[in-house]
Amino acid sequence: MSPSLYVTNTHKINPESVAMAESCSKVLKVPFIPRNKRPLNALCPEGEEAGFLVVSKNLELSLIYKGFELFFHPSMSKVRIKALQKGQNDPMLTAMDACPGDSVLDCTLGLGSDAIVASFAVGASGRVVGLESVPVIALIVRHGLQHYRDKNEKINEAMRRIEVINADYLNYLKTLPDNSFDIVYFDPMFRKPLHKSSSMEPLRRWVNGDPLSMEAVNEAVRVATKRVVMKEGSSSGEFARLGFKNIVGGKHSPIAFGFIITGKGEKAAL
Ligand SMILES: C[S@@+](CC[C@H](N)C(=O)[O-])C[C@H]1O[C@@H](n2cnc3c(N)ncnc32)[C@H](O)[C@@H]1O
Repeated sequence: MSPSLYVTNTHKINPESVAMAESCSKVLKVPFIPRNKRPLNALCPEGEEAGFLVVSKNLELSLIYKGFELFFHPSMSKVRIKALQKGQNDPMLTAMDACPGDSVLDCTLGLGSDAIVASFAVGASGRVVGLESVPVIALIVRHGLQHYRDKNEKINEAMRRIEVINADYLNYLKTLPDNSFDIVYFDPMFRKPLHKSSSMEPLRRWVNGDPLSMEAVNEAVRVATKRVVMKEGSSSGEFARLGFKNIVGGKHSPIAFGFIITGKGEKAAL
């Protein structure tokens, strides 16, 4: 079970930040507690394991939980986009066979790094939709993708184009017609966590850690005209269990991308 969630402000407030906190509390259907100069742990019943969505005076959002702060940042997508701009390959995009104009359904948006790279690759003529089942993460990341300002204008453009939907991917996939996206992507929480990936640590208590099901993969194959891609630990048995026979990466990296060619509209043969 997830910890309780409350919405509040930083110590410094203005009418806009209070209004935004009230609006977040309505969207998330959790209580708004005015800060009134109190420490966070004084805002909830003593001993309760609670997280706080905190709205700053500059209208930035962060989730604070047990001393960890989770906020939106383009993170590794910046480095990956720089490498792409220098002409280097990105293994996720290779597995996706992502081309300008493609539509990508990112079923596990998380903090949005992979979606930003995909959005950069498919460009303004493409489309990226990101699904996130945890409401507070969807809210923080949707806000960040719309408002974060990077020095690299291409990253800003890629972020702004991503559509964020708070939904469970299996439920959502079931509503989609056949062949309605070119690429469907899954990056579920790894079955065996990579301890080196510390940026995910504060998230663990809040994220949906359910394994990917065969039913969801079958739905994704029905929906994708080109490929279904899954990221996992390179030695993971999930690739074999779920029928991902083609693998990119993993030789010199703890991460690999498995893909299924759906064969309904492959633009470039392997
Ligand atoms: C490993 S993280 C994804 C990281 C992401 N690829 C990135 O670049 O930041 C997995 C995310 O998928 C979400 N998730 C897991 N199961 C889901 C489901 N059934 N529907 C929608 N989102 C889900 C989790 O809550 C978590 O935020």
